[in-house]
Amino acid sequence: MAQAAAPAPPCTVVIFGATGDLARRKLFPALYGLEREQLLAPQTRIVGVGRREKTDPEFRRELEDAVRKYSRFGLDAEVDWDSFVRRFSYFRLEMHDAEGYRRLAAYLQSLESEQGLPPRRVYYLSVMPVLFEPITVNLQRAGLVGKANGNGHEFFRLVIEKPFGYDLESAEQLNRQIRQVFREEQIYRIDHYLGKEMTQNISVIRFANTLFEPIWNNRYIDNVQITSSESVGVENRGEYYDKTGALRDMVQNHMLQLLSLVAMEPPESLDSEAVRDEKVRVLRSLVRWENPKEVLTNVVRGQYGPGMINNQFVPGYRNEPEVHPDSQTETFVAMRVFIDNERWRGVPFYIRTGKRLPVKATEIQVQFKHVPGLPYYRYPASLAGLSEPAYSNQMAAAIHPNRLVIRIQPLEGIYLEINAKSPGTHPQVTPVALDFCRNCTTPINSPEAYERLLYDVMRGDPTLFTRWDEVALAWQFIDPIEAVWASEPVDFPNYAAGTWGPAAAAELLARDGRHWWPVQNEN
Ligand code: BG6
Repeated sequence: MAQAAAPAPPCTVVIFGATGDLARRKLFPALYGLEREQLLAPQTRIVGVGRREKTDPEFRRELEDAVRKYSRFGLDAEVDWDSFVRRFSYFRLEMHDAEGYRRLAAYLQSLESEQGLPPRRVYYLSVMPVLFEPITVNLQRAGLVGKANGNGHEFFRLVIEKPFGYDLESAEQLNRQIRQVFREEQIYRIDHYLGKEMTQNISVIRFANTLFEPIWNNRYIDNVQITSSESVGVENRGEYYDKTGALRDMVQNHMLQLLSLVAMEPPESLDSEAVRDEKVRVLRSLVRWENPKEVLTNVVRGQYGPGMINNQFVPGYRNEPEVHPDSQTETFVAMRVFIDNERWRGVPFYIRTGKRLPVKATEIQVQFKHVPGLPYYRYPASLAGLSEPAYSNQMAAAIHPNRLVIRIQPLEGIYLEINAKSPGTHPQVTPVALDFCRNCTTPINSPEAYERLLYDVMRGDPTLFTRWDEVALAWQFIDPIEAVWASEPVDFPNYAAGTWGPAAAAELLARDGRHWWPVQNEN
């Protein structure tokens, strides 16, 4: 976000689930980040809604604690804390209590009339999905969402966290419930990977560079590898995770979103509908793995056993709190995906994600094809003082394919590997790296994903949010894989914590004569 950006228009942000983990770790620090960057309008009010009894001063103390711990700025001297915190208040509500919503309506109106503002609302549901329906229906009954067909309905926005459903059917049901009250253009479905700085950079790198734009296709690209690895385990989310697994938790949303951005055609404009239309086309062209043979050949699942991370012993997944001792849930997925269109036909996209892997890193690696008929393979061996086969093998091994790496986190940058001559008398080729790291030298990291996303909701820009058709198509890709897995149990655990998943993940590429490229910070 450029420093010069204007503050978002004033509004009232109502956070349901304001005493929860997400609010503390992400939403409050993000609002503080926006204030620090002067992107939060002074009249904007934030109302935390929760079931617990809490006074405003108590709520504000929790806010301070969260900002101190989790904000990228810490508590910063440049922010006038009093003027920031007085915009926050707490409202106690039982989520099923219709009368409570009427009181909430009166309360929000009083806040807005103090500011002399019309109602412009952002309802942020940071709660369990079972509460989506009662909350949205009650908001409507209490007259809190404007008139569905009246003017100004677009100023009532609904933000929803993932998971959006458990499969296509449950997602459709959830969507139907929400759509009884809100129109699609009022709904902002969060995929926080879209808010990451470098995710937004994917399109710029692709489309704004003559170096890459013309060669971004199957004539020049050999394969694409998308890795999102975590060294943490399931932390305190065992109950949720054990019902979910890596495929639903990471691939259905974040990984497929990254893939769509890498693969989409240039949108006709940067308008939110144009961009999302192109992403949808990619999702529609994904080759689906549906029968057991296809799934078992192209998709690898893993679950971690005990192992070592950073020289510390960590327990296996089945010993994590609230995880079933015989759990069949996968904590690792690797897969080979094809996109059946003119640009990408024949190019494998390899995806992998998992918990308790050696490092935390998200990267996109684009491997280009070798230059055909490269003269360096044919340099006369006698001049190099070597036998012919030994020499050409040596040369071939030295010539690496060009590789572009888009580093999304924790390092944010662009790494390009090209071939150059090493100093000396023969034309010895050696790979050299052009390495640009955005956050290696500046002390303060890029805006948190949630800063950007909250800012966009307040401005009414849904580009970085997932539209319903994207969600539905992603589930259509995931569901058949889940169905095959459910009928084909595996012997878990099958990788030790601190390793790169089961051996089958490496074999998936080895079969194609390829290997996973190391990611940042990997030894
Ligand atoms: C969430 C998943 O969506 O993304 C978590 O539910 C995962 O399991 C997290 O840890 C990873 O996000 P990030 O931003 O840390 O890569």
